[in-house]
Amino acid sequence: MTTSQLKQSFKEAYGKEAEYVFFSPGRVNLIGEHTDYNGGFVFPCALSFGTYLLMAKNDDKVLNFKSLNMPQVTKVALDKITTPLEKNHWVNYPLGCIAQFVKRGVEITQGYDMLIWGNVPAGAGLSSSAALEVVTAYAFNELLGTGYDRTELAKIGQASEHEFAGVNCGIMDQFASAQGKKDHAIYLNCDTMQFELVPVKLDGIKVVISNTHSPHKLDSGAYNDRVAQCHLALEQLRTVRPNLKNLAELSEAEFKQIESAITDEVAHRRARHVVGEVQRTKDAVEALRKGDVEKFGKLMCESHVSLRDDYEVTGLHLDTLAQEAWKIKGVIGSRMTGGGFGGCTVSLVKDEAIDEFKQKVGKAYKEITGIDADFYVAEISDGARRVE
Ligand code: GLA
Repeated sequence: MTTSQLKQSFKEAYGKEAEYVFFSPGRVNLIGEHTDYNGGFVFPCALSFGTYLLMAKNDDKVLNFKSLNMPQVTKVALDKITTPLEKNHWVNYPLGCIAQFVKRGVEITQGYDMLIWGNVPAGAGLSSSAALEVVTAYAFNELLGTGYDRTELAKIGQASEHEFAGVNCGIMDQFASAQGKKDHAIYLNCDTMQFELVPVKLDGIKVVISNTHSPHKLDSGAYNDRVAQCHLALEQLRTVRPNLKNLAELSEAEFKQIESAITDEVAHRRARHVVGEVQRTKDAVEALRKGDVEKFGKLMCESHVSLRDDYEVTGLHLDTLAQEAWKIKGVIGSRMTGGGFGGCTVSLVKDEAIDEFKQKVGKAYKEITGIDADFYVAEISDGARRVE
């Protein structure tokens, strides 16, 4: 949909013109998975698809939310902003962000009519929810004149996810949506929130996203279980290292010295993934800086194996896409991306191999799972912004 079509839809929904149009993107993570809530490094980039938010003031002391995918308008009175709606209601994502402004002492006295439309493939694990959160935080920051920086907007989105959606996620998705930059990946230290934008200059190679069309179930509890298992590992490691702040702080050698303190077998494997993944992420960024794309790709594949065997967040669909991709000569690397349990893989593919990649991986995937996969060449784009 174009902006003018969206404005037309706004007019049809509310009988007046939209005054503002905002946009915030989804993301794909190149490497550094399930490290963010362990204080580790991540390396995501913002995509060209994301969520649009059109707004106009109203005189009704009410926030009206309309998604183009839903027939009805959801109304929330201004004095009810800080109360979540029923579980799994989509409005909890934007509402949770607006509630964070109130929590930070900002008074909201102006009502708004809002229309939301996104083109991030649904359930693909490309952070459609983070895009919705960050576009809301960005818009209210601008309209309320609160002056929060983009990192704070990401934190607002994350808090909404924790408090209104019940997912104890890390900061990566919201951060990428807020801070993304065209043709750059974000090398973020999730402990200090310091980050660097690293150019993704890949000569003759594309970032290809493959969609399993097997929805990732982030709110299914499996994600929160992983967070809890990492916490258990950390607690047990603290019996021998009382000052340990987070799992990501440990080098692989340090981890080996104290890993026996983790008595829970599952928690031990989760921690081993985190420690290894942080090292792989550091190595991958260094390799990219040196132009060693082959090494970057190899680390992507190792990341997938660790997520498959130690972290157990892949499953048949993601494994099939990644493992079939590895068989193709022009594939530099391929791995699951995002939370897992479905969703997408990310691959680096040589230009001349892209057709073969789609054809062969798509065919094998269909044979094994009965599902048609989808493939998109990623356009690495800018973060949240006002469009009009
Ligand atoms: C989801 C979460 C992120 C991150 C990834 C895994 O996308 O929202 O915070 O933990 O999973 O890396």
